[in-house]
Amino acid sequence: METTLRAARPGDVAALVALFLALRKEEGDASATEAAARRHVLRALARTDGVVVVAERAGRCVGYGEAALARSRSGRWLRRPPPEGAICFVYVEPTARGAGLGRALVAHLVAALRRRGARVVHATVRAGNDPSFAMLRAAGFSPATINLRMEV
Ligand SMILES: CC(C)(COP(=O)(O)OP(=O)(O)OC[C@H]1O[C@@H](n2cnc3c(N)ncnc32)[C@H](O)[C@@H]1OP(=O)(O)O)[C@@H](O)C(=O)NCCC(=O)NCCS
Repeated sequence: METTLRAARPGDVAALVALFLALRKEEGDASATEAAARRHVLRALARTDGVVVVAERAGRCVGYGEAALARSRSGRWLRRPPPEGAICFVYVEPTARGAGLGRALVAHLVAALRRRGARVVHATVRAGNDPSFAMLRAAGFSPATINLRMEV
């Protein structure tokens, strides 16, 4: 079945809230509420420096991606550091996975950030999230830094 990628619209809010909640749940964040997810989605759609893309299949959103321009990490010392981008979230419904949608969403976000001036795009993956790491590698990302954490 054909899937199309398009910019998110105000009419997608309910679908985006459901996808964002599903993403949070899969990430093990039980504290995410519908109200908080709605606030997040509305804020993301209103951002002028952000991009929200949905994957639509048979009139239904089966995935989405969110990215934004971010403060330059590499050119902080410059007077006018060039903008960089960040992939914030990518989610594909379990039944739609493994067909290249995640990679296509990432490619769409990267192209949109590039059009807005970014020449570097960052992404963060939780340790152990092999599908996400594989998707980003397949989309052209390579490891830059590794953050370590210890509970004390
Ligand atoms: C990560 C996610 C978006 C991938 O979506 P997807 O549509 O299944 O990914 P794709 O089909 O585009 O796969 C892209 C690449 O990743 C690889 N990949 C995808 N899932 C994989 C898995 N479970 N194990 C290993 N590799 C995997 C694919 O083989 C493909 O590589 P290839 O092109 O070299 O074959 C999806 O698994 C998801 O929504 N996960 C939960 C949310 C999440 O973790 N999001 C990322 C953090 S915000």
